[in-house]
Amino acid sequence: MIIMIYACDENNAIGKDGDLPWRQSTDLQHFKSITSGGTIVMGRKTWESLPGKLPNRSHIVLTRGSRSDVETATFDDILEMAKSQDLFVIGGGEIYELFLPHAEIIHRTIIHCIVEQPDTFAPKIDDLIFTLDEEKFVEKSPRDQYDMTFQKLSK
Ligand SMILES: NC(=O)c1ccc[n+]([C@@H]2O[C@H](COP(=O)([O-])OP(=O)(O)OC[C@H]3O[C@@H](n4cnc5c(N)ncnc54)[C@H](OP(=O)(O)O)[C@@H]3O)[C@@H](O)[C@H]2O)c1
Repeated sequence: MIIMIYACDENNAIGKDGDLPWRQSTDLQHFKSITSGGTIVMGRKTWESLPGKLPNRSHIVLTRGSRSDVETATFDDILEMAKSQDLFVIGGGEIYELFLPHAEIIHRTIIHCIVEQPDTFAPKIDDLIFTLDEEKFVEKSPRDQYDMTFQKLSK
Protein backbone atom coordinates (compact mmCIF):
# COMPACT_ATOMS: atom_id res chain seq x y z
CA MET A 1 0.00 0.00 0.00
CA ILE A 2 1.18 3.56 -0.70
CA ILE A 3 1.03 5.80 2.36
CA MET A 4 1.92 9.46 1.91
CA ILE A 5 3.18 11.67 4.71
CA TYR A 6 3.85 15.40 4.57
CA ALA A 7 3.65 18.68 6.41
CA CYS A 8 2.27 21.80 4.73
CA ASP A 9 1.48 25.37 5.68
CA GLU A 10 -2.03 26.81 5.51
CA ASN A 11 -1.55 27.40 1.74
CA ASN A 12 -0.28 23.86 1.02
CA ALA A 13 3.40 24.92 0.79
CA ILE A 14 5.91 22.22 1.75
CA GLY A 15 9.33 23.54 0.76
CA LYS A 16 11.58 26.50 0.10
CA ASP A 17 15.16 26.63 -1.23
CA GLY A 18 15.50 22.83 -1.12
CA ASP A 19 14.59 22.56 2.56
CA LEU A 20 11.67 22.51 4.98
CA PRO A 21 10.44 26.06 5.66
CA TRP A 22 10.12 25.57 9.44
CA ARG A 23 11.64 23.91 12.46
CA GLN A 24 9.01 21.64 14.02
CA SER A 25 10.49 19.09 16.39
CA THR A 26 7.07 17.69 17.34
CA ASP A 27 6.25 17.02 13.68
CA LEU A 28 9.60 15.29 13.16
CA GLN A 29 8.77 13.02 16.12
CA HIS A 30 5.36 12.32 14.55
CA PHE A 31 7.10 11.48 11.23
CA LYS A 32 9.51 9.20 13.06
CA SER A 33 6.78 7.35 14.94
CA ILE A 34 4.83 6.65 11.72
CA THR A 35 7.74 5.67 9.46
CA SER A 36 10.09 3.84 11.86
CA GLY A 37 10.67 0.23 10.91
CA GLY A 38 9.30 0.82 7.42
CA THR A 39 10.48 1.68 3.91
CA ILE A 40 10.55 5.34 2.86
CA VAL A 41 10.37 6.42 -0.77
CA MET A 42 11.51 9.86 -1.88
CA GLY A 43 12.60 11.97 -4.83
CA ARG A 44 16.27 12.64 -5.46
CA LYS A 45 16.00 16.27 -4.29
CA THR A 46 14.47 15.29 -0.96
CA TRP A 47 17.17 12.64 -0.53
CA GLU A 48 19.81 15.30 -1.06
CA SER A 49 18.13 17.54 1.54
CA LEU A 50 18.56 14.88 4.26
CA PRO A 51 21.69 14.68 6.41
CA GLY A 52 21.97 10.99 5.46
CA LYS A 53 19.96 7.82 6.03
CA LEU A 54 17.35 8.06 8.78
CA PRO A 55 17.77 5.40 11.47
CA ASN A 56 15.68 2.23 11.41
CA ARG A 57 14.18 2.77 7.95
CA SER A 58 14.92 1.37 4.47
CA HIS A 59 15.40 4.09 1.86
CA ILE A 60 14.44 4.10 -1.83
CA VAL A 61 15.12 7.10 -4.07
CA LEU A 62 13.45 7.92 -7.38
CA THR A 63 15.83 9.36 -9.94
CA ARG A 64 16.29 9.23 -13.70
CA GLY A 65 20.01 9.13 -13.03
CA SER A 66 22.04 6.59 -11.07
CA ARG A 67 23.45 6.74 -7.55
CA SER A 68 25.86 4.71 -5.49
CA ASP A 69 24.91 6.12 -2.06
CA VAL A 70 21.34 4.77 -1.83
CA GLU A 71 18.99 2.21 -3.40
CA THR A 72 17.09 3.60 -6.38
CA ALA A 73 13.94 2.44 -8.16
CA THR A 74 11.60 3.47 -10.95
CA PHE A 75 8.03 4.59 -10.45
CA ASP A 76 6.79 1.23 -11.83
CA ASP A 77 9.11 -0.68 -9.44
CA ILE A 78 7.57 1.17 -6.49
CA LEU A 79 4.01 0.44 -7.60
CA GLU A 80 4.89 -3.24 -7.95
CA MET A 81 6.52 -3.36 -4.49
CA ALA A 82 3.51 -1.60 -2.95
CA LYS A 83 1.31 -4.58 -3.90
CA SER A 84 3.00 -6.65 -1.20
CA GLN A 85 4.22 -4.12 1.40
CA ASP A 86 3.54 -0.72 2.91
CA LEU A 87 5.68 2.05 1.42
CA PHE A 88 5.85 5.53 2.92
CA VAL A 89 6.14 8.24 0.28
CA ILE A 90 7.92 11.12 2.02
CA GLY A 91 8.26 13.73 -0.73
CA GLY A 92 8.91 16.07 -2.20
CA GLY A 93 6.45 17.96 -4.37
CA GLU A 94 7.09 16.08 -7.63
CA ILE A 95 6.89 12.71 -5.91
CA TYR A 96 3.67 13.48 -3.98
CA GLU A 97 2.05 14.56 -7.27
CA LEU A 98 3.20 11.34 -8.95
CA PHE A 99 1.94 9.01 -6.23
CA LEU A 100 -1.27 10.76 -5.13
CA PRO A 101 -3.50 8.72 -7.50
CA HIS A 102 -2.06 5.53 -5.94
CA ALA A 103 -2.10 6.58 -2.26
CA GLU A 104 -4.50 4.86 0.12
CA ILE A 105 -3.62 6.80 3.27
CA ILE A 106 -2.29 10.33 3.79
CA HIS A 107 -0.75 11.58 7.02
CA ARG A 108 -0.87 15.37 6.70
CA THR A 109 0.37 17.88 9.24
CA ILE A 110 -0.96 21.40 8.82
CA ILE A 111 1.68 23.77 10.19
CA HIS A 112 -0.22 26.87 11.28
CA CYS A 113 1.78 29.46 9.40
CA ILE A 114 2.00 31.00 5.94
CA VAL A 115 5.44 30.60 4.38
CA GLU A 116 6.74 33.62 2.47
CA GLN A 117 7.66 32.84 -1.14
CA PRO A 118 7.62 29.03 -0.99
CA ASP A 119 8.74 27.14 -4.10
CA THR A 120 7.28 23.65 -3.52
CA PHE A 121 3.68 22.61 -2.83
CA ALA A 122 1.75 19.46 -1.99
CA PRO A 123 -0.88 18.41 -4.52
CA LYS A 124 -4.48 19.37 -3.83
CA ILE A 125 -6.34 16.57 -2.03
CA ASP A 126 -9.82 15.95 -3.44
CA ASP A 127 -12.20 15.64 -0.48
CA LEU A 128 -14.54 13.54 -2.61
CA ILE A 129 -11.76 10.93 -2.86
CA PHE A 130 -10.14 11.18 0.59
CA THR A 131 -12.00 11.23 3.92
CA LEU A 132 -10.64 12.81 7.08
CA ASP A 133 -10.47 9.97 9.64
CA GLU A 134 -8.50 11.60 12.45
CA GLU A 135 -7.57 15.16 13.39
CA LYS A 136 -5.63 16.47 16.39
CA PHE A 137 -4.58 20.05 17.12
CA VAL A 138 -1.25 20.34 18.99
CA GLU A 139 0.09 23.55 20.50
CA LYS A 140 3.72 24.34 19.76
CA SER A 141 6.32 23.18 22.26
CA PRO A 142 9.43 25.27 22.99
CA ARG A 143 11.14 23.34 20.17
CA ASP A 144 8.52 24.19 17.54
CA GLN A 145 7.99 27.41 15.64
CA TYR A 146 4.24 27.00 15.16
CA ASP A 147 1.11 25.19 16.36
CA MET A 148 0.13 22.25 14.16
CA THR A 149 -2.75 19.89 13.34
CA PHE A 150 -2.13 16.21 12.65
CA GLN A 151 -4.56 14.64 10.20
CA LYS A 152 -5.05 11.14 8.83
CA LEU A 153 -7.00 10.77 5.59
CA SER A 154 -7.95 7.62 3.75
CA LYS A 155 -9.42 6.74 0.37
N1 LIG B 1 7.04 19.49 4.05
C1 LIG B 1 7.28 18.21 3.78
O1 LIG B 1 6.63 17.31 4.34
C2 LIG B 1 8.34 17.85 2.79
C3 LIG B 1 8.69 16.51 2.58
C4 LIG B 1 9.68 16.22 1.66
C5 LIG B 1 10.31 17.23 0.96
N2 LIG B 1 9.94 18.50 1.20
C6 LIG B 1 10.58 19.61 0.44
O2 LIG B 1 10.27 19.47 -0.94
C7 LIG B 1 11.33 20.04 -1.71
C8 LIG B 1 11.82 19.02 -2.71
O3 LIG B 1 10.74 18.65 -3.57
P1 LIG B 1 10.88 18.69 -5.17
O4 LIG B 1 9.52 18.56 -5.79
O5 LIG B 1 11.73 19.87 -5.56
O6 LIG B 1 11.80 17.41 -5.48
P2 LIG B 1 11.59 15.83 -5.13
O7 LIG B 1 10.17 15.44 -5.41
O8 LIG B 1 12.16 15.54 -3.79
O9 LIG B 1 12.59 15.16 -6.18
C9 LIG B 1 12.42 15.40 -7.56
C10 LIG B 1 13.32 14.44 -8.31
O10 LIG B 1 12.77 13.12 -8.25
C11 LIG B 1 13.11 12.42 -9.44
N3 LIG B 1 11.89 12.01 -10.13
C12 LIG B 1 10.74 12.71 -10.28
N4 LIG B 1 9.84 12.00 -11.00
C13 LIG B 1 10.46 10.83 -11.31
C14 LIG B 1 10.06 9.68 -12.06
N5 LIG B 1 8.84 9.57 -12.63
N6 LIG B 1 10.93 8.67 -12.18
C15 LIG B 1 12.18 8.74 -11.62
N7 LIG B 1 12.62 9.81 -10.92
C16 LIG B 1 11.75 10.82 -10.77
C17 LIG B 1 13.96 13.37 -10.28
O11 LIG B 1 15.31 13.13 -9.90
P3 LIG B 1 16.55 13.31 -10.94
O12 LIG B 1 16.59 14.77 -11.23
O13 LIG B 1 17.74 12.80 -10.18
O14 LIG B 1 16.22 12.47 -12.13
C18 LIG B 1 13.49 14.73 -9.78
O15 LIG B 1 14.44 15.77 -10.03
C19 LIG B 1 12.41 20.47 -0.71
O16 LIG B 1 12.23 21.84 -0.39
C20 LIG B 1 12.09 19.60 0.50
O17 LIG B 1 12.57 20.16 1.72
C21 LIG B 1 8.98 18.84 2.08
